[in-house]
Amino acid sequence: MIFGNSIQLWDKFKSMTQECFTKGHAVYFLLGPKKIYFLTDPDDIAVVANVCLQKDTIFGVKCKELVGDGLLFSDVITWRRHRKIILPTFNQQVLDTYLPIFNNKARKLVKVFEKESGKGLFDHSTYLRQMTLETVCSTAMGVEINEAEAVNYTNALHLAFDNGTERYQKIWLQIDFIYNLSNMKKEQDKCIEVVYEMTRQVLSKKKKLYEMTNNNKEGINSFIEHLLNSNELSEKEIINEVHNMIIAGSDTSSSVLLFTLILIGSYPEAQKKILDELLYIFGDSDRDLVKQDLGKMTYTEAVLKESMRFLVMAPFVMRYIDKEVKIKNYTLRPGNNCIFSFYGVHRHDIWGNDADQFKPERWLESELPSNSKAYMAFSIGKRNCIGRSYAMMLMKTTLAHLLRCYRINSDYKQLQIKLNVLIKPVNNYYISIENYKKC
Ligand code: HEM
Repeated sequence: MIFGNSIQLWDKFKSMTQECFTKGHAVYFLLGPKKIYFLTDPDDIAVVANVCLQKDTIFGVKCKELVGDGLLFSDVITWRRHRKIILPTFNQQVLDTYLPIFNNKARKLVKVFEKESGKGLFDHSTYLRQMTLETVCSTAMGVEINEAEAVNYTNALHLAFDNGTERYQKIWLQIDFIYNLSNMKKEQDKCIEVVYEMTRQVLSKKKKLYEMTNNNKEGINSFIEHLLNSNELSEKEIINEVHNMIIAGSDTSSSVLLFTLILIGSYPEAQKKILDELLYIFGDSDRDLVKQDLGKMTYTEAVLKESMRFLVMAPFVMRYIDKEVKIKNYTLRPGNNCIFSFYGVHRHDIWGNDADQFKPERWLESELPSNSKAYMAFSIGKRNCIGRSYAMMLMKTTLAHLLRCYRINSDYKQLQIKLNVLIKPVNNYYISIENYKKC
């Protein structure tokens, strides 16, 4: 029931999670003889997340078809080895070298937005998706992709996500035999091919660049260069990880920016505080951001964190329970699957009685829950998001450039959300913008 398209997702989640809140322990659903545990308690989730590292056997397998055998859905043995190799490519020193690219892409977005200024509601999602895709390719892969490639890729990816969600609403399509004969399967195969083809092209461009520079390894810092040089992964493994990173990094960041802009446009007082902060840091200048600026953008960061708490983009993730796990009031049995409801955690009583409100100030005024596990926008435990700092840098840079030029208007009460792997708006026309200075 939670996998419905175009549903008022939050209400359904709320009623589902209510029971967990009041009882304070796990509930479960039966899927045939197997249980699906449903957890909303942050301590319980943290325990399971650190002990059970295998992705679930319901969604995980199917997601792997799309996302590939990269970190997100790989089996535990592969994951351990690859995570160790990939982790250094996300250290702060490497991320700092990406800032000029974040600045460039954000400036490009400001230019693209120009044609929408003063013209009423427009679809900002397409622009954001393209921008984050270009950014991830450019930074992590060290190559540029053109606009047509970006459009082609994002369309295929979204159709594939839509199909994946629809498949789970139609019981008969769960049977592989029927699904394999369906048009949806044909369409899905095409989408996956488009997405993979792009990854192959990125890798081949990179290899050509290498050959042209006679394998000059100076200045190696991008994700793909690191993998190519480590000699620890096969070409197939590299393609899988690159593909995985493009998907994990681009769609997530664009969705969070999409919702954050809607919220900023709906809360003028929050928008004003961001503008004051930007004025304080940059004055009238429209210079690029340097890393010291990012550290000063505390209110903007609070808005981003609160947006991700309020509209948690990955409302749940799943794990396979491969061993007995004792949580506070219950014991999870092996052989079953478990849902971590991040939506439930973010609406948990520990957030206080204003948990249902968008309130960036809670991040600044010591109103945060004393439990450090209460925030799970980037998941928790050993398989948490490897791109967290990357995403925060990218999103802060983008907001700084946009808000130095435009005022945003929106009404988030009109927002309808559907679940398609991540949460997505049902339609895309939610914000309008006005230039408040020439950019
Ligand atoms: C605001 C943006 C982002 C959000 C909200 C987000 C959220 C998440 C979440 C919830 C997970 C955990 C899934 C699970 O526990 O099963 C995850 C994993 C992951 N994310 Fe992110 N992510 C974001 C941006 C990024 C970026 C920019 C990158 C890379 C450039 C990235 C790469 C990954 C990878 C590779 C994993 C798998 C980690 C592993 O299993 O070891 N993410 N992300």
